Amino acid sequence: MERSLIDFSGKSALVTGGGRGIGREIALALAGAGADVAVSDIDEETVRKTSEDIKALGRTSLAIKADVSSSDSVSSMIAAFLETFGKIDILINNAGITRDTLLLRMKEADWDAVLNVNLKSAFLCCKEVARPMIKAREGKIVNISSIVGIIGNAGQANYSAAKAGMIGLTKSLARELSGRSITVNAVAPGFIQTAMTDKLSEQDKQAFIDNIPLKRIGLPKDIANAVLFLVSPLADYITGQVLTIDGGLVM
Ligand SMILES: NC(=O)c1ccc[n+]([C@@H]2O[C@H](COP(=O)([O-])OP(=O)(O)OC[C@H]3O[C@@H](n4cnc5c(N)ncnc54)[C@H](O)[C@@H]3O)[C@@H](O)[C@H]2O)c1
Repeated sequence: MERSLIDFSGKSALVTGGGRGIGREIALALAGAGADVAVSDIDEETVRKTSEDIKALGRTSLAIKADVSSSDSVSSMIAAFLETFGKIDILINNAGITRDTLLLRMKEADWDAVLNVNLKSAFLCCKEVARPMIKAREGKIVNISSIVGIIGNAGQANYSAAKAGMIGLTKSLARELSGRSITVNAVAPGFIQTAMTDKLSEQDKQAFIDNIPLKRIGLPKDIANAVLFLVSPLADYITGQVLTIDGGLVM
């Protein structure tokens, strides 16, 4: 019988910000579909837990404490990854933070932190994995952007700029790396239920949901499902794209 096209047996993947939320869900979904998965996070305790849960699925895993906004930390992370797995097939740039406030109140430090953790991190990680992927003449990269990188959001100038930057990075790298059969795509989640959005008041959450055509908040699983598709052979002919996953909010 022909193998399912979403079967990652023999593939090795790295998910940044894999300690909780969307990153954890993507990591577990990849492992559930047969991949060996390393997870990295700035939070050592949560990333260790995700890694243990991946091992419980019968896969090889590695928990890496790393700050993806630091080039030294990213270099050590990729070195540790390659030492354990030997090659990298899939990279998911998921780690992210928010520091929301209106422009007039936004401090330079709020801008820098959000740009560094969301955008510079993706540049650093892509740069480190590009060489082994180019050598292997294959690879799949998915950057976790956001719908606010497409439509903007009051109070999120820093975050929206970082997420829009990820889209430009995605398209440029898709063009640069296409000759080696490496695809680079982005997903743009809408309003997804995680610790990041738990900060919102119930009133604000309801206002968001009222505007969503599918009338519900998204779940980390909704994002993981799309990422699985984009890094599978089903998406071999898709590169430089931004897949919006938001219940129809942006269309
Ligand atoms: N939740 C949403 O509604 C939503 C919507 C659009 C996009 N996103 C994006 O999805 C991604 C995951 O978000 P989430 O909702 O799961 O958030 P989350 O806060 O639950 O998880 C983010 C993870 O990133 C880690 N992290 C933070 N700074 C880091 C650093 N410097 N180095 C390494 N790891 C770091 C955190 O420790 C955490 O485990 C983010 O890029 C976020 O911007 C989320």
